[in-house]
Amino acid sequence: MRLNDFHRIEMRRDANTGLFAIFALHDMTLGPALGGIRRWSYADEGEALADVARLARGMTSKNAMANLPFGGGKGVVVAPQGDDPTRPARPITDAESRVLGEWIAELDGIYVAAADVGMRIDDLRAVAERTKHVAGVGSESDTGPRTALGVYSAIEVVARRLGFSDLRGARVAVQGLGKVGMPLCERLHDAGATLTVADIDAAKTQFAADRFGANVAPGGEVLLADVDIVAPCALGRAITHEVARALRARAVAGAANNQLASREAALTLRERGVLYAPDYVVNAGGVISAALDYLGTGGFDDEVRKIGPRLERIFDQAQASGRLEVEVADDLVSQRIAAKATEAQAAKTP
Ligand code: NAI
Repeated sequence: MRLNDFHRIEMRRDANTGLFAIFALHDMTLGPALGGIRRWSYADEGEALADVARLARGMTSKNAMANLPFGGGKGVVVAPQGDDPTRPARPITDAESRVLGEWIAELDGIYVAAADVGMRIDDLRAVAERTKHVAGVGSESDTGPRTALGVYSAIEVVARRLGFSDLRGARVAVQGLGKVGMPLCERLHDAGATLTVADIDAAKTQFAADRFGANVAPGGEVLLADVDIVAPCALGRAITHEVARALRARAVAGAANNQLASREAALTLRERGVLYAPDYVVNAGGVISAALDYLGTGGFDDEVRKIGPRLERIFDQAQASGRLEVEVADDLVSQRIAAKATEAQAAKTP
């Protein structure tokens, strides 16, 4: 595992509560490292370290692409394992959250924490009792609808690229009807799109069928539905090579993190003429609203709606250069960080 590009990695253990956490502060050229705290059961510390490193790198890209004055960071809390290996044995206690808050306070503003899997907003509020460096606990604590707005603005751009003048008549498949997928369906339905949906929770698909007239597809098959656009909003790595080969949609744009299971999948999408909207460009609505909430600037919706035009530029550059959309996005991130580093260097030079 390569870690020498990290600004700082901190491992902390509290003897009283037994709490163990790792904070990974990746690139901080653009500002303090902003990213969620994930609480998860890991097989061992090595697995936790690999996960936090991967997630922190992802936040560097997401924050830079969203034009936020923040670098990338992440925290993981290693939770006790229960009988079900996919779920921690119990939620975090308030005492543990406060210890976490003290550790973040000691980092003195170089890390700004936000919510992630396994940390509820109330847990984060307990963290915020000990430190002010917590984003998204104010008016913007529910990031799902803002993430959905960003995905919607991306899908509008994608639909235009496919030849639709607006979303009326566009057929969109949404996998996962959670905090992002459901409000996304509502927006798409209001705009006149025809929906196909799937969720492992039958009550959610029933709700979407009743409310939005959505067709319900069985779990995995939703990705291969006969639609124009597929929006993965459940799990990462949904677009495997096999899915990329069999996909009937002409575009993929959704909220899930790390949608592409491999580079091979991206190449197959390209060969088949399927547009791919890079996930970290599309799903930044949540972090944008948490960041603006932390900075106290407001203007949330306007900033989130910039995701569409940003994606448009990536598609233009990918088309003009023949490169993959993800490569164009990664280059833009590197350029933004390099430009800021040059600016900072010039400011230091007398
Ligand atoms: P969520 O946990 O509220 O919803 C996920 C939904 O997917 C649930 O309804 C679940 O039942 C369903 N699901 C799980 N496995 C499935 C399967 N195999 N097939 C169909 N449905 C399945 O999560 P949320 O917040 O809506 O996030 C969705 C995705 O977007 C996640 O990958 C998340 O990491 C990503 N994301 C979320 C953000 C946010 O603001 N909530 C921000 C950026 C990314």
